[in-house]
Amino acid sequence: MKIQDKHYHTIWLKVGDKRVVQVIDQRKIPFQFEIFDIATVDEACFAISEMVVRGAPLIGITAAFGMYLAVLNSDGSDFENYIARNAEKLKATRPTAVNLAFAVDEISNFILKNKSRNNLHELVFEKVESMKLQEVINSERIGEFGLSLIEAIYARTKQTVNILTHCNAGWLACIDWGTATAPIYKAHLQGIPVHVWVDETRPRNQGARLTAFELGEQGVPHTVIPDNTGGHLMQHGMVDFVIVGSDRTTAGGDVANKIGTYLKALAAADNGIPFYVALPSSTFDFTMSDGIREIPIEQRNVVEVAEIEGIIGGQIQTVRIISEKSPVANYGFDVTPARLVTGLITERGICKANKESILDLFPEQKQIKTQW
Ligand code: MRU
Repeated sequence: MKIQDKHYHTIWLKVGDKRVVQVIDQRKIPFQFEIFDIATVDEACFAISEMVVRGAPLIGITAAFGMYLAVLNSDGSDFENYIARNAEKLKATRPTAVNLAFAVDEISNFILKNKSRNNLHELVFEKVESMKLQEVINSERIGEFGLSLIEAIYARTKQTVNILTHCNAGWLACIDWGTATAPIYKAHLQGIPVHVWVDETRPRNQGARLTAFELGEQGVPHTVIPDNTGGHLMQHGMVDFVIVGSDRTTAGGDVANKIGTYLKALAAADNGIPFYVALPSSTFDFTMSDGIREIPIEQRNVVEVAEIEGIIGGQIQTVRIISEKSPVANYGFDVTPARLVTGLITERGICKANKESILDLFPEQKQIKTQW
């Protein structure tokens, strides 16, 4: 996708220096565009936990690059333990997005299998790069499958299709295209008139800051709304379709996503509006079935709620908005039960949010030992 008409991925190796991974610093968007350098595992951990990068697929690929840096920076001593320690460090950065553990385990296994090869870091780089490109392919496929849903609404109404989304499940959360935004971009490119209601997504405002920015850069009409507006819009026929991303979806179709997603699903169900979740296979957790009971929910620093960031006189600044005396809580995610999800849009097609339908798309997962 583009920023000021230049095509970007969200993560890449620095041109001319294979020891440095570069990412777009998402803490600064939309006010400033800056590139952030990552040269060590600790810097990769910082980038993930401080949300220089965020969004489940991008967190996963950043951690995979972190493992590449671990190999590159290794002195070879106690190698297996060294790899295991770095893998654990990366996995501990953000607990909810399963893509993180999935990517780190995939690369760790690859490293251990190939540990005696003398060009190991090159092999690991190729593996990470192929995972990254697979995420791009998966996002684009999600876009193509999701497009059919938007086309069907447009064929019926012959009017601008109004889509509501929460948080940023756009290309900035992935490598390219996004998950929830991919069908929107495909529809826009096909000339289908779309308009996106963008939930601001407190406390970190990923909707207002990131989704609005990326839609604007691609020329997609959109309007930012406070998080509590969606229900009203739905009651008045102003939303045709809700589409969100996911950080972890169970084998039974329960969906963990940014805090507030559940409330949108409830409002959509009450108003008979389709509520779809777009996700690549790396976001499924086939070892879990009961999302509410099993998915770990990240609690982040309360300053994210107590303070708000904006731009004053060209400088990004933070102000406190809550009395120092009031306790504050900051749950990062919630779980939308499968019964509220109309369907899941994956790179293999669209399925219902239940075990049978999911396993029809992913039959190889039937062998996984699970509690379900
Ligand atoms: O805390 P974040 O910004 O990492 O949360 C991101 C989300 O909740 C997204 O909706 C989700 O990761 C899907 S990203 C394609």
